[in-house]
Amino acid sequence: MPDNEGGQAHVPVLLAEVLAALAPLAGARVVDGTFGAGGYSRALLEAGATVTAIDRDPNVRRFADALAAEFGDRFTFVPGTFSELDQFAGGSPDAVVLDIGISSMQVDEAGRGFSFMREGPLDMRMAGEGETAADLVNTLDEKSLANLLFAYGEERRSRRIAAAIVAARAETPITTTTALAALIERTIGRKPGEMHPATRSFQALRIAVNDEFGQLVEGLFAAERILPEGGRLAVVSFHSLEDRIVKRFLDPEKAAPTRSRHLPQVQSALSPWREVRKAMKAGRTELERNPRSRSAVLRSALRSASPARPVDRAGLGVPGRGGDR
Ligand SMILES: C[S@@+](CC[C@H](N)C(=O)[O-])C[C@H]1O[C@@H](n2cnc3c(N)ncnc32)[C@H](O)[C@@H]1O
Repeated sequence: MPDNEGGQAHVPVLLAEVLAALAPLAGARVVDGTFGAGGYSRALLEAGATVTAIDRDPNVRRFADALAAEFGDRFTFVPGTFSELDQFAGGSPDAVVLDIGISSMQVDEAGRGFSFMREGPLDMRMAGEGETAADLVNTLDEKSLANLLFAYGEERRSRRIAAAIVAARAETPITTTTALAALIERTIGRKPGEMHPATRSFQALRIAVNDEFGQLVEGLFAAERILPEGGRLAVVSFHSLEDRIVKRFLDPEKAAPTRSRHLPQVQSALSPWREVRKAMKAGRTELERNPRSRSAVLRSALRSASPARPVDRAGLGVPGRGGDR
């Protein structure tokens, strides 16, 4: 895999498990909705598949160009978001794979503003357009900010953090990753051996800036619309909020606690998904080689013959940005 200009290239997570979930691959048409450094796409191409790859980050172009040069017309790259993958797929594919979240290249590049460990602008936009994290931090009112940190980051101390942000920005706007991280650390403290106190807040801001839950929901339903009966879907996610969405999507019968028990339950015979596999996690060897795989969860299933459902955000329990509590 090409090097990340001095940084560590992205190491694909749960690759063998993803390939097994999407098999057979020889001659198959696969949509890779999260191209990144092309780790999955390369392996799919090497297994004989034809790949349409999508990524919203313009910086991945060089990885895509390298694969196009090597695999010719078996590989197509489309800049865009996977929420629209049914528009980009160019017909009905045999499989769709999504590896949700950010790549190591994005985290490692200080100028992208994803990491509280690296001084950079408080940006966090994968596509480089739209509202930045600094826009949110400096303009949202205190209650909206607290709700966002709680709903998207599961940050229990969200109210204290939001109050501290609002007080600090009245003096001077918060424009860098390290300024925000230091402010959060001063506000809620740091215990040895625990994760950095800014972790959850940074996750929440990143999800909001990139509308990651909206993208995930739209992408899942787009895959449901476009995959034919027997088509395969594999989704790798990196935190519990995302995994819960994927789980509910693939298994609507089991995971519908919000629906009234007086209403008829969705019958599994009518579910658009069958052979829904149990969640898979990285084994010991992968964990030792790639610590990033620690929180990765793979879920996969086969498309059934049942018709595709309309997009249903509430039914998947997607938290709103306001996050009532
Ligand atoms: C975890 S990386 C994928 C790594 C890839 N599987 C590999 O092996 O190199 C996630 C990638 O998906 C992209 N991405 C995230 N959300 C996206 C979306 N909604 N639409 C398109 N690309 C997205 C990010 O820009 C990033 O490059």
